[in-house]
Order: sequence, then structure tokens, then C-alpha cells
Amino acid sequence: MKTIISASLLSADFSDLGRECDRAAAAGCDWLHFDIMDGMFVPSISFGGPVLRSVAKISRIPVDVHMMTVEPVRYIRRYAELGASRITIHAESTDRLADTLEGIKLCGIKAGVAIKPDTPVADIEKFIPLVDMVLIMTVEPGFGGQEFMPRTLEKIRLVRFIAEHQGIDLNIQVDGGINAETAPLVREAGANVLVSGSYLFGAGDMSAAVASLR
Ligand code: DX5
Ligand code: ZN
Repeated sequence: MKTIISASLLSADFSDLGRECDRAAAAGCDWLHFDIMDGMFVPSISFGGPVLRSVAKISRIPVDVHMMTVEPVRYIRRYAELGASRITIHAESTDRLADTLEGIKLCGIKAGVAIKPDTPVADIEKFIPLVDMVLIMTVEPGFGGQEFMPRTLEKIRLVRFIAEHQGIDLNIQVDGGINAETAPLVREAGANVLVSGSYLFGAGDMSAAVASLR
């Protein structure tokens, strides 16, 4: 499976966001990862619809939305209209997971389901056939620049095993603490979509940093 690199804008310089989006695309990133935080599901507040509209309008690569909000169903139609190519929602953020995932697909975009480090794979197993991508958080969601949690590797292996067993061509995304040292570990475990924020945007040479993750 080809490795997809999704650059997390949370670590970009927001005073020059257009240029940061261009820089990520020019460096060879496949997607832009857009973290929406509401201050409820996670402690921090990041950005929402108005910023998504601007980013999606100028981005040369697909915008991969990661929603860290309670009851994401309230926003999915709007974010799809604003230009999200895919929306990933947290299993812990709603009691209406299946309906919300179907709602995302009805908007004509790809749906993903995410789990925090302490949420077992068993909680999402029955939803795997409904999604294009499973996001295994490799840090506690909410902040960039945290250290990768090795205990999440087992969950990546388990999701890849389940997908292969069911004959599903599933994207497995990892997010948090991904750099040149941790990328080989998650790829070996079965992840094929690597989100990286502080490592990529903090690199002197972003192209070299992207290459080091593949
Ligand atoms: C954290 C976000 C991540 C974050 C990753 O909740 O979901 O996308 O930007 O940042 P790094 O790559 O710095 O760990
Ligand atoms: Zn994210």
C-alpha cells in the first residue's frame, strides 16, 4: 500500500496560512490534515468553518478533516460544502456513530472513524465496513507536539488484521508524534496514512522530512 502523508496544519504559521498550504503541497504531502477542536471534546479550540473555507479554496491537495467536537453531525454537511474531501469523527464523540458516518457519505465525501489511545478497537469493530479510513490516535487528541505512544501499535496491527480478514481495502491513519523515528514503526504495524504536524512544519527542509516518513 502506498504511504499517504497528511500535513497537520495545526503546526503551521497561521499568519501565513496560504503559503504554508503551498509549502506542504510543494514538499510532496498528499493531503492537508485539518484539526477542528471545540474546547469540549478536547480542551483546546483550534479553527472551524471560516478557516476551512479559505484553506479548501486554495489547497492543491485534498483536505482531510479530523473533527474533535461533540456531536459532529451538526457540522458535517457544512464542512463537506466548504470543501472537505473527507471527514473523520471520533467514536467517543457521539452515540449516533453509524448515522453520522452514513451522513458524511451522503454528502459525497469519504468517512473515517477515530479512536483515542484508551479506546479499544472492539468499540469500532462493527463500524469498519462503513468507513474508508480508521484513525488510531497515537497521542491524546488536543495538542500538537506530543510524544508518540508505542502502546498504540497493537491497535494498528489489530485493525489491519480485521480489515484483511474481512477483505476490506482500508486506510489506517495515525496521528500524533509521527516523525522519522516513529514512522517505520507505524508503517510496519499496518498504518498507511501518516499525519505529521510539528515534525513537518518544524523541519528546515520539508521535502526531506516528507521523504523520511515514506
Ligand atoms: C492532535 C492533532 C494532530 C496534531 C499532530 O490532536 O489531531 O493532528 O496536529 O501533531 P504532531 O504531529 O505535532 O504530533
Ligand atoms: Zn489530527
